[in-house]
Amino acid sequence: MPKRYTVTSALPYANGPLHIGHLAGAYLPADIFVRYLRLRGEDVVYVCGSDEYGAAITIKAKKEGTTPKAIIDKYHAMMKSAFERFGIAFDIYHRTTEQIHTETSQAIFLKLHEKGEFEVLESGQYFDEVASQFLADRYIMGTCPKCGNENAYGDQCEKCGSSLSPTDLINPHSTLSGSKPVLKKTKHWYLPMNKYENWLKEWIVKEKQNTWKTNVYGQCKSWIEGGLQARAMTRDLDWGIPVPLPDADGKVLYVWLDAPIGYISATREWAKQNNKNWEDYWKSPDTELYHFVGKDNIVFHCIIFPIILKAHGEFILPTNVPANEFLNLEGDKLSTSRNWAVWLHEYLDEFPDKQDVLRYVLGSILPETKDSEFTWKDYQARNNNELVAILGNFVNRPNNLIPKFFEGVVPAQYELSDYDKATLTDLASYPDKIGDLIKNFKFRDALAEVMNVARLGNKYLADTEPWKIKNNPERMATILNISVQIIANLSILLKPFLPRTAEKLDKMLGFDGKLTWEDAKNTNWVKEGTILQKMDLLFEKIEDEVIEKQMQKLGVTSNQLSVTNNQQTTISNKQETTSNNRDGEPLKQNQTISNQLIAQKDEINYDDFTKLDIRIATIVAAEKVAKADKLLKLTLDTGIDTRIVVSGIAEHFKPEEIIGKQITLLANLAPRVIRGIESKGMILTALDGNGKLRFLHPSEAVMNGATVA
Ligand code: MF3
Ligand code: ZN
Repeated sequence: MPKRYTVTSALPYANGPLHIGHLAGAYLPADIFVRYLRLRGEDVVYVCGSDEYGAAITIKAKKEGTTPKAIIDKYHAMMKSAFERFGIAFDIYHRTTEQIHTETSQAIFLKLHEKGEFEVLESGQYFDEVASQFLADRYIMGTCPKCGNENAYGDQCEKCGSSLSPTDLINPHSTLSGSKPVLKKTKHWYLPMNKYENWLKEWIVKEKQNTWKTNVYGQCKSWIEGGLQARAMTRDLDWGIPVPLPDADGKVLYVWLDAPIGYISATREWAKQNNKNWEDYWKSPDTELYHFVGKDNIVFHCIIFPIILKAHGEFILPTNVPANEFLNLEGDKLSTSRNWAVWLHEYLDEFPDKQDVLRYVLGSILPETKDSEFTWKDYQARNNNELVAILGNFVNRPNNLIPKFFEGVVPAQYELSDYDKATLTDLASYPDKIGDLIKNFKFRDALAEVMNVARLGNKYLADTEPWKIKNNPERMATILNISVQIIANLSILLKPFLPRTAEKLDKMLGFDGKLTWEDAKNTNWVKEGTILQKMDLLFEKIEDEVIEKQMQKLGVTSNQLSVTNNQQTTISNKQETTSNNRDGEPLKQNQTISNQLIAQKDEINYDDFTKLDIRIATIVAAEKVAKADKLLKLTLDTGIDTRIVVSGIAEHFKPEEIIGKQITLLANLAPRVIRGIESKGMILTALDGNGKLRFLHPSEAVMNGATVA
């Protein structure tokens, strides 16, 4: 009997594009899990959608000078298409601004209200007297009481990860007007979470210790044991779902109340479209519910939403919440606001047909138990040394040998040697091994085992050397037949992880794609006489230039990166030679060091030239950037402002030597974030004959801000 599963991935806020951190946190693991369950023939619904209410959206709208509606429409479309192109196999990608979601959320709120589950309380909430409105937690910033970060938000400190209340902040200020907010009385509907403490001690602390991941369990336990407080489920905001009560004008549902209900609304919409009964997936005790989220969402999915479901009374509770930790990028936290990310839509545009490479790399480094790190050099190494050299190479060999010796038709199996039998027995053990790892949310290990199947194939061919036994066609046939069986099973085992690659293998073997996970336990089911279809190479080597372009885009040079890379201990890195450090000289961003003069560039017109805002400025402060040997953080007086420029010149100039010097600045270069510092502009330099950088400065001092023309 197939079991029933409801699987969700966190609804991303529709306020920015998706990046690799999102994928590694909540989408790729869920997608692997769901694809696996489907291959097992289980009854699964996998739902997601855009989270379109809350301050996250209104803040973005304000920033872009537009309406919340314009923001959500833009980013919903963008995320939906990026997910599709990347191959996240949702059954539905919904939105929380749909009518059916308003109805579902309001109905659940009302039911709780009718059951007397809320406490209505008057309390002081921060109010901005200049902007004359109540402030959502995100609109308040101040100093984190836990770590002293001066830029903590009213709901969370992004530096130390503590979740906060606005009144916890030291020196709070409103981000709307900059003013100091005042506490003003207002009425809200509170969920008395304290009432559920004992139940949570039973349901989580006692019962989930062995099944929930330790990072998740630990966070829940410390929340529960730290004592739970009532939390307001309504807000004074004008962007949200109206509170469905007569005495609640101007109040909307708390976004963290409506968003998880979005999973239910999405399921309802999907059921409507597919002639299913949504209640089977949310109310039937034999359905298992899984929420895939990032670590900042744990408390909402393990404590607050379950309390709501429990209080309501009709819903099932999550079987598990396999939350991941965070993915970092090149040594620094991913950040949308600092533009420190690899954006999914850009990746898909720049690396067409390489979805599976990114799936492989992210699948190999998922932050399952602790934060992990994406670097472009590691991406390249895993592609070149694992996908190309192990997986691609294995599949390629029978794929070349069978056309060469057997006219492209899978030959028969004759007598099997002990080694053949042992290889097949080994092969048959993988589906269970990998399946167990997937069921236990160990996706990295599971993927590594899939690669071990390719390694098994490579070893088998290296040991048996079929190409050397032209005089023994039966033996050669047997070996190649067995290799095809390995490829066939590999194609099934790859499906949850690298679906496009698996599809190519299916095509090559003439499969209709209707294979099941169980089929991979049979090691002799590709029939003799099967015609192998032509297939392009599965993977191709990725060259240094491609990787360097990506690193330059981030504003990091290959030299700076080598530190991070060396810490990554993948087998692949050992085989890697660092070829980027061309002559041992540090590279400045976008600048190739060479003693040769470069040829004149393409002609431009005067208008092109006038677009460049080049000015004279004075260096007023200079300091080294921590952990970056080549970078100086310069503070410039540009006449028009005082600004920061990060420049890759630390090996050429000592900070104290250059303070007070006038330099030439390209002032209107689009700002970018380098090592977490926003750099506005570029200092112009030239190389002397010894590869030393020199500043360009006026022959006599001029006024700061003087333009160069
Ligand atoms: N939008 C939230 C975030 O990005 C996640 C919402 S998950 C849901 O952190 F359960 F609320 F849907
Ligand atoms: Zn903090």
